[in-house]
Amino acid sequence: MCGIVACRTDAPVAPFLIGALALLEYRGYDSAGVTVRTTGGITATSRTIARVESLSHKLAGWSGATLPGAGIGHTRWATHGAVTETNAHPHLDCSGRVSIVHNGIIENAEALRRELAARGHRLITQVDSEVISHLVEEELRESGDLRAAVEATIARLTGSWAIVALDADTGRLVAATHRSPLLVASSPSGVFAASDVQAIGSRVDGFQAMRDGDVVELADELIWTRDGQPATPPPFVRSSWTAVVRDLDGHPDFMGKEIAEQPETAARIIDQLAPGIANGALWDGLGIPDFRRVAVLGCGTSLNAGRVVGSAFGALGRLPVSSIIASEASETVLEPGTLVIALSQSGETADVLRAIEDLDLAESSLLALTNTAHSTLARTADSVLDCQAGPEIGVAATKTFVAQAISGVAMALSALVATGRMSRETALLHVDDLRRLPDLLAHAIAVSHDRIPPLIDALHDASGYLFLGRGSGVVYAAEGALKLKELSYRWAEHYPAGELKHGPLALIELGTPVVVIDSGDPRIESNISEVEARGGRVIRIGGAGSTIPALGLSLGTPMPGGMDRWGPLESVVPLQVLARDLALSLGRDVDKPRNLAKSVTVE
Ligand code: G6P
Repeated sequence: MCGIVACRTDAPVAPFLIGALALLEYRGYDSAGVTVRTTGGITATSRTIARVESLSHKLAGWSGATLPGAGIGHTRWATHGAVTETNAHPHLDCSGRVSIVHNGIIENAEALRRELAARGHRLITQVDSEVISHLVEEELRESGDLRAAVEATIARLTGSWAIVALDADTGRLVAATHRSPLLVASSPSGVFAASDVQAIGSRVDGFQAMRDGDVVELADELIWTRDGQPATPPPFVRSSWTAVVRDLDGHPDFMGKEIAEQPETAARIIDQLAPGIANGALWDGLGIPDFRRVAVLGCGTSLNAGRVVGSAFGALGRLPVSSIIASEASETVLEPGTLVIALSQSGETADVLRAIEDLDLAESSLLALTNTAHSTLARTADSVLDCQAGPEIGVAATKTFVAQAISGVAMALSALVATGRMSRETALLHVDDLRRLPDLLAHAIAVSHDRIPPLIDALHDASGYLFLGRGSGVVYAAEGALKLKELSYRWAEHYPAGELKHGPLALIELGTPVVVIDSGDPRIESNISEVEARGGRVIRIGGAGSTIPALGLSLGTPMPGGMDRWGPLESVVPLQVLARDLALSLGRDVDKPRNLAKSVTVE
């Protein structure tokens, strides 16, 4: 989703900004832009609705394209206004002196827009952010000081913002934040700001995370203020940066590569976490007090992974478990003694961050389960479990789901031992089950690639899909329907199979595809019969004899009452492959599906 980068550097500024924006591309975006002001004082703004790299071509003929200086850049994911070059950031004031980039939402933009227009400003976009550049313009006219102008501007805004403003006359750069993350850093190669350390990690060895109300001038060093007064900077966070390898490794796309990586990813995580399960050390190392109930919190795929983790606590530990949709958390009342597990692969999902603010956590603990150890979520939580999926470039989550589920279940088992709810011997049997997972995932991949392509022709024209499961299979049905929607842009809904006769059967017509996760509950047979009796096309994902015999039942018997209580995790593989294969046959971009973002920074 929207990403910001800004810098003042002695190195060529335009190539740095464009390279940094390319490192934010993975978050998902629909347009991008930069404003560059060279040390000598020449300024250019360029925007695109094509890929970030096209900005290089656009600036190639400009005399400042290789000069040092200051600049701001942005990747936009449209919320207000269509995807057009005009609506892309940076936004300029009437004179072209002030340019700004903004993440977040300005809730009083309409009122401000009317006021500004009445005072003679020309607002040319449909974007809420544009009001900021005009407010800074007015204040700058008053005080002549960019920092004071930004301070005065944010006092007039309601909503959420991470802003960086550039004054073309002086080359000054000022950042401000409220409920939207922004990191700042200085190093011998310059001063920097970015939404994500990935964008600036090659230039800095750490960063400071701006807090609500902070204003920072990116001068030769960082100058911190709040409400116009000097402010104590937040702590420095050291970050070791390794470049994300963007190598397809022979795969046609990153989604395909990341699906294929799941067995190896699972094996690596299990090897690392298994020694801390049966002795409770993994849990003890998190430093979280005992708890009486569990709530998992998240959105989209991460919420589904959370439900898998929750079912391990519930089914194996007999603990009360609830799941909280982050965007609906504001009315939730937490019981004292709740362990809240907030899941987000990006760690920047605004709904999750807002939910944490809204929930009364005074008598509860907050554990972040994320793939981004430096994220806002990780910094906010009492403790962090890094799911260690490694880089995931495909915007739709695949291997991060598997990594979150495995690391979360390992943590759950360890917690149950450490709190006296599970014996060491039982935990060791579950560890054996976990160690089977890499083979089960590899088997599911092989079967899926064999069985799914021949099905695609018949599914190509279907306008809607149903996904059904029972018990532990329901959450995988949910994830299957979500992936199919995200990737193929076709309707897909999921239901607990028993609910079929309470309404959704009306949707079944001749040929309607119905994907059934057969996780072993015998009652699923009658649900399948109900679908078949109405001409529905059943695609059964299960053991031997299924349409897609991808589940571990065909590899041997897992521990009774074990993995089948929170699995079968490998059932997610055919669901991912089905979504990808269908999407490819429909000509979709499976790595950058429309309207999907990897870092969902608006509520
Ligand atoms: C991926 C998933 C989405 C999810 C998004 C952000 O794109 O496929 O379902 O909404 O990531 O999720 P996060 O895990 O970062 O909160």
